[in-house]
Amino acid sequence: MRSYLSVLDFNEDETREILDSAARLKAERKSGKLHPYLKDTHIALYFEKPSVRTRTSFTVGIHELGGHLVELGTLNTKIGSGEHIEDFASVIGRYIHLLVARVFDHPSLVDMSKMAGVPVINALSDDSHPCQALADVLTILERFGQIKGRRIAFVGEGNNVAVSLSLLCAKLGAEVQVVSPDGYGLPSWVMESANGLPGTVNQLQDIDKAVCDADVVYTDTWISMGQEKDAEERRKIFTGYQIDDALLKKASDEVIVMHCLPAIRGEEITKEVMYGPKSAIWDQAENRLHVQKALMIKLIESTR
Ligand code: CP
Repeated sequence: MRSYLSVLDFNEDETREILDSAARLKAERKSGKLHPYLKDTHIALYFEKPSVRTRTSFTVGIHELGGHLVELGTLNTKIGSGEHIEDFASVIGRYIHLLVARVFDHPSLVDMSKMAGVPVINALSDDSHPCQALADVLTILERFGQIKGRRIAFVGEGNNVAVSLSLLCAKLGAEVQVVSPDGYGLPSWVMESANGLPGTVNQLQDIDKAVCDADVVYTDTWISMGQEKDAEERRKIFTGYQIDDALLKKASDEVIVMHCLPAIRGEEITKEVMYGPKSAIWDQAENRLHVQKALMIKLIESTR
């Protein structure tokens, strides 16, 4: 049973197939064509954390593909108040055809994928955010035509978004530089996984060096969900890791700016950059819809 818990779950050809399919679905939607590829398919959304983009884009995508949505959340399950996540998955997999799950702890996704008997899509975990990375890469391809050889600078913490972006871009031949405060870089397993990929992943601490001649400058919030109690300390640690117009002058003339959202204006990015001419942020957010439709179709087809 195929699942998509990490960008490493599909090889390069399979990843490019999803990206091509997403581009086609996007063009067809713009010309008013929708296809019921998920007719008679029931898909459950299980979210342990809040979400705007992921929840909405999956919901719309399922409807547009003719599928049926089952909305679950922590309030609608007994997980956390007695029922084990494996038991939940063993049951839910007998009703539905695909499970989309956002969890605090990545091992919960692994448990679900072992027990559900249907594909599971990672809608964000503490480890990774592979659907976001697919949308990011589709956006880079739209802007530059190809990703091989492109220089991508990620400014901020090397957590879930940076992990998936780095591995997916390196899988497709890009050069990724992640710049983070000491102790907030990419986990060592990511650097090990990146070895042997066609592109490169480097961890830096010099922001000017990371951004120099970059084609893409990407950032994420300094304070992720669940880190609110450490907000003040994190603001001090990440001060200086902001994308503003001065920083972008050090990048390539054609640089695009990316952010997975939600953004905290005035912290990791300025409003001027978010809404400025170099911003690809809004296309990037839209592309969540198209890549997730392509991903759901591929996973459902793999079960038929
Ligand atoms: N980027 C992202 O996953 O947004 P949400 O948390 O709103 O889903």
